[in-house]
Amino acid sequence: MTDPVKIAVLVSGGGTNLQALIDAEASGALHSGRLSLVISSREGAFALERAARAGIPSHVVTRAACGSQKTFEEQILKLLREYGIELIVLAGFMSILSADFTAAYPNRILNVHPSLIPSFCGKGFYGLRVHEAALAYGVKVTGATVHFVNEVPDGGKIILQKAVEVRDGDTPEVLQRRVMEEAEWKLLPAAAELVSADIRRAGQR
Ligand code: GAR
Repeated sequence: MTDPVKIAVLVSGGGTNLQALIDAEASGALHSGRLSLVISSREGAFALERAARAGIPSHVVTRAACGSQKTFEEQILKLLREYGIELIVLAGFMSILSADFTAAYPNRILNVHPSLIPSFCGKGFYGLRVHEAALAYGVKVTGATVHFVNEVPDGGKIILQKAVEVRDGDTPEVLQRRVMEEAEWKLLPAAAELVSADIRRAGQR
């Protein structure tokens, strides 16, 4: 059997999706891939603490310190190469990557988005804003999507989706939590395993 696929997780915040991946690796649910690197676009993100506890090397690369999007992406690409990363998982990563970046890893970047794409997605729809928009529209069902990342924000091929009920009286925070618990934390590790297993099977490494 070949080695597990080396996975980098890109984060910006609390890192509950990173935690779901860490737990999935510990339980064996994620076994075709190995969490090998965490990159945070924000200093002090709690996700960094989660990485440290799990013994995963982490680095901080901020857009502000880099001065430009180009340098920001170059720094990230450099780290990905240094660690021999084969699969990138965006888990609450709050920066849109350029077409040059996504073209460097075709079908090798996953993202979790907290709605049923194509609803409430694309530029400007991230984090709590997605749930605010879903509640403002009045949808009765929302959910989460894991998809491949290409040059179109939230526009790549869908890998997994799961619906979640919206309830009367939901606040954006309450709905966000339900979508995470019922959908995101299950879908993201499952998709990471699926894609890692495919990469391993295809032997294209
Ligand atoms: C998650 O809900 C994730 O789906 C969302 O940000 C949150 C990050 O939480 N991502 C986006 O909105 C991307 N467009 P986490 O840091 O606890 O995983």
